[in-house]
Amino acid sequence: MALKTKTAEAHWTSGITRYCRRFGYLQGMRRSLKLMNLINIGVASGLWLLCVSVWAQTAAPVAAPASPRSETAKSARFEDSMAERTRACTACHGDQGRAGPDGYYPRLAGKPAGYLHNQLRNFAQGRRHYELMTRLIDPLSDEYMAEMARYFAALSLPYPPPSASNAISPERLARGQQWVTQGDAARGLPACTQCHGVRLTGVQPHVPGLLGLPLDYLNAQLGAWQTGQRKAHAPDCMAEVVKRIPPEDLIAISSWLARQPLPADTQAAARPPAGPALPAALRCGSAPELPVATKGTP
Ligand code: HEC
Ligand code: HEC
Repeated sequence: MALKTKTAEAHWTSGITRYCRRFGYLQGMRRSLKLMNLINIGVASGLWLLCVSVWAQTAAPVAAPASPRSETAKSARFEDSMAERTRACTACHGDQGRAGPDGYYPRLAGKPAGYLHNQLRNFAQGRRHYELMTRLIDPLSDEYMAEMARYFAALSLPYPPPSASNAISPERLARGQQWVTQGDAARGLPACTQCHGVRLTGVQPHVPGLLGLPLDYLNAQLGAWQTGQRKAHAPDCMAEVVKRIPPEDLIAISSWLARQPLPADTQAAARPPAGPALPAALRCGSAPELPVATKGTP
């Protein structure tokens, strides 16, 4: 056990170094690198302690085959124990998964379950990268990841008011809004709302909302698709979307999105909005329910 502990700590430390390097580069945080290191060492050592209890509790569901016990008995205790078991997650993702304080640890609460599950698979299968977290989820079964996804999806918590205040002209913001609400027919790109819902709160079960996300997070995600760092299940429609948008307009889009207040109903829409089917080139492997034009139809 002592040996195991040492190896685990060595892994955390190298993970932290890599994390700081990547995030420093990606998100202009070079100057706070030293501070980040300290924070992360704090988080990591706290996490290690938490992990011990998490693994103790998750070992059974991960290793054991489906238990013959009644489903009702299981779900009666589900929420409480899940809140406990996901403490290692909320150390980074904020209390109940409401997001970390600095815009780098995304909110989990209330996002569509299928979307969250897909992301856990993406990290586990190398389509998204964040080593400290990947280590934590690597030993978990797919069914357990689905359970965690359902748990966070079911949490309904208020959103903070939008806080983006980067300098950008009203014309650029208007350009951002145009991409989001109208798309660009000449480039064969529908509005973001066509997939992310008219209220931009997402569409069940696989499409996330675009409001309530910090500017830094939005920029990092769109940038990651641009450089191939982030991928979704193939065909990856978001990679295609980002490819069709001039890079200077991506910041206009994220700046506009990060300034929008959330609507009263923050739940993801139950189904995709009515309207023309998506062009075949924008089929989403991660959200097969989105209607796509069959070959031959416009
Ligand atoms: C050490 C910090 C850390 C821990 C611990 C951690 N995460 Fe994460 N998680 C992150 C970061 C950072 C990202 C965003 C990475 C990126 O920019 O792509 C992320 C992204 C995610 C996403 C994608 C969210 C989205 O909206 O796309 C999910 C889902 C997720 N984490 C779930 C979990 C779960 C479940 C656990 C616990 C088993 C966990 N995380 C533990 C830091 C962490
Ligand atoms: C053809 C459908 C489609 C269109 C059009 C589309 N998206 Fe997406 N988007 C998706 C899907 C599906 C996902 C989830 C991908 C995954 O599983 O990783 C996604 C994910 C995202 C995410 C990640 C959210 C998070 O929490 O990490 C961002 C940001 C995003 N889209 C922004 C946009 C913007 C901005 C536009 C318009 C310019 C847009 N999308 C247009 C389908 C679409």
